[in-house]
Amino acid sequence: MAETATKGAISIRNVTKIYDPEGVNVMAVDNCSLEIAAGEVCMIVGPSGCGKTTLLNAIAGFHSVTKGEIYLDGDLLCGAGKPIAEQGADRVVVFQSGALFPWKTLIDNVAYGPIVQGVMNKSDARDKAADLLAEAGLVDVGNKFPGEVSSGMARRAEIVRALINDPKVLLLDEPYRAMDSLTKSIMHEALLEVYDRTKVTIFFITHDLEEAIFLGDRVVVMTTRPAKTKKIVDVNIPRPRDYKTLSSEEFRLLVGEAKDAVHEEAIKAFEAGERELA
Ligand SMILES: Nc1ncnc2c1ncn2[C@@H]1O[C@H](COP(=O)(O)OP(=O)(O)O)[C@@H](O)[C@H]1O
Ligand SMILES: [Mg+2]
Repeated sequence: MAETATKGAISIRNVTKIYDPEGVNVMAVDNCSLEIAAGEVCMIVGPSGCGKTTLLNAIAGFHSVTKGEIYLDGDLLCGAGKPIAEQGADRVVVFQSGALFPWKTLIDNVAYGPIVQGVMNKSDARDKAADLLAEAGLVDVGNKFPGEVSSGMARRAEIVRALINDPKVLLLDEPYRAMDSLTKSIMHEALLEVYDRTKVTIFFITHDLEEAIFLGDRVVVMTTRPAKTKKIVDVNIPRPRDYKTLSSEEFRLLVGEAKDAVHEEAIKAFEAGERELA
């Protein structure tokens, strides 16, 4: 049964990020505010180069914000007097594929984090890893190496690894970008299955609007750089969702609504000379 989420609310308040490479200011995010509820799947879309990754990196604690604040469950992550958030097990970044250690079994990959962080001993971490893998349908492959399982299984193991410390928030930056559509849809169902079970808050960047509507509770369309929120599309399609959702009228209409907003921004980005469009 799905839990009701009680943790993982993110509050982004008036965040601005200015990079300063060699004295040339680049404003990546401009006075951006966004409230993400505990247990929400929040999808972020917008033209390439608009500032999406910058926002994710600020939440993760990979770099500072120039102005504004970010809170997690009411606690300040970063803001005035504390420009950079501490990195912590409450926020986990799921990187693009290939992030598993090829020389470790799936169980040892999943158990690795808590062992090196010293929060679990090796035997407890391996037991927990085996349980989580089993819950994700990876019961028979825990002792295999990433190269010995399908890419779909490896990706599922990466998500399991992200969950071992019971994080409040998963941060994903175009994780399925390079995948063919069939593998992608298997990944989506696997992620939704994990979500339905854990109700972890998900902050997910993508350029794929169908992916955004299929997975999200809300889709936040960012403006062309510097990023701020342009439009929020509420996705009131009931869960659990499956591939049949993709052919519903409701789904097509929502994709169209998001597409109109992104397209408008992509044109602006193009006119402003950004190299690549979303
Ligand atoms: N470390 C950095 N130094 C200077 N400029 C950067 C840096 N990282 C990103 N940028 C610039 O900030 C803008 C936003 O980048 P990013 O957040 O990666 O966009 P997105 O993820 O939406 O494609 C881009 O113009 C990019 O070139
Ligand atoms: Mg990016």
